[in-house]
Amino acid sequence: MKLLQLFPITTKIKNDSLTIAENDIALMTEEYGTPLYLYDRATMDSAATGYQTALASHYPRPASVTYAGKAFLNTAIAQWTQSHNLFVDCTGEGEIAIAMAGGVPREYILVHGVNKSEADLKSALQSAGTIVVDNITELQRIVELSPIPDSQFPNLWLRLLPGVAVETHHAHTQTGQHDSKFGMTREEIMEASAYCKSRNLPLNGIHFHQGSNFRDPGPLTAAIELGLDIANDIVFNGEWHFCPGGGWGVAYHEDELPQPDINAYVRMVAENVIAGCTTRGLTLPHLHLEPGRSLVARAGVAVYRVGAIKRRGEKVWVLTDGGMTDNPRHAMYGARYSCLPVSGVSAERCEKVSIAGPYCESGDVVIEDLLMPRLEVGDLIAIPASGAYHLSMSSNYNGSRKPTVLWLEDGRAQVIMRRETVDDLLRRDASL
Ligand SMILES: Cc1ncc(COP(=O)(O)O)c(C=O)c1O
Repeated sequence: MKLLQLFPITTKIKNDSLTIAENDIALMTEEYGTPLYLYDRATMDSAATGYQTALASHYPRPASVTYAGKAFLNTAIAQWTQSHNLFVDCTGEGEIAIAMAGGVPREYILVHGVNKSEADLKSALQSAGTIVVDNITELQRIVELSPIPDSQFPNLWLRLLPGVAVETHHAHTQTGQHDSKFGMTREEIMEASAYCKSRNLPLNGIHFHQGSNFRDPGPLTAAIELGLDIANDIVFNGEWHFCPGGGWGVAYHEDELPQPDINAYVRMVAENVIAGCTTRGLTLPHLHLEPGRSLVARAGVAVYRVGAIKRRGEKVWVLTDGGMTDNPRHAMYGARYSCLPVSGVSAERCEKVSIAGPYCESGDVVIEDLLMPRLEVGDLIAIPASGAYHLSMSSNYNGSRKPTVLWLEDGRAQVIMRRETVDDLLRRDASL
């Protein structure tokens, strides 16, 4: 079944029901309830290895993969990153703390953020190996907080605004366009570089990111060229680092299959960097890639239970117990998904349904107009490609509690995040 290619690589159909990593999904819901999130370790391992193998075969100098924590980060995921020696991109103090709880060593913590607070910067100065500087004000703030760099001072990379974005399905997932809020123009980068040099700051890298969930790496060429021109102008001392971001896409819907090829993307980046450095007489940098989604999206599956079905003319609403609070991506930017029933997988897909959650918003919809087998109240559905930007963007709207997350490996299922309780909701409140 083609649609299974959207699911984790260990997904199988047994007795017409879905299993992942030899765990029966329906049985797991009996023990842990719904909504339930499942993460398949083998799928994450395979993606990480895919990147590393591609880098090793296409790039002759040191190269590293950074896991973009914004896709989904908790202690267990941070621990997993270290089983592959991944750097971890942390946005601010909160994610730095999670990475540290997962044992990520200082040199592997890289800190991003478009308007880092003083607390973010203090935490980064104390615990990170690299700070990617977004703007000159931030650079000045770093110096105010730590005027004399010592041996523990993080490396500083400058975030370039390349002025060209990649093609994504929605403007909200583009970051590299000329009027984006992220990064610095070429002129600002040169000013920042002069500032670093005048204060002896350990500036040794250039970073840019052009958008998230793209399939055509074409626009990277111009941005890589600009980044290398700037590196040429800056003249780094010794080893330098170059990171053309992340954002490589994944398939969310069967129309988007086959899955985008990680090897082809990495080869294209590596070849462009090698050619651009050779032309300019630059030494090859330590090359970094910074994917989040393509490491973790396919590994994740959201499991919801159908609570009610409403037929309104042509429209069939399947109302589930999960929705925009655990997955806001459709509500935010119209992300498309597909799904399967957990049992009766092979039944004919005969009815067009829309899957909506239980929350008080008409926009609380996860899937629109998808052909599904005829569903009944009480059925379970499994939504693939749910591993990235769901739980990391989840909310407590309507007092909802964030779901249990299970880590699946070789027939075992382990809770890596328990379901929130009403007590969790009340924990921050104070009485009048
Ligand atoms: C700076 C930076 N790096 C990496 C990523 C990861 O993108 P993706 O999860 O699409 O690979 C993002 C996402 O927006 C980002 O802003």
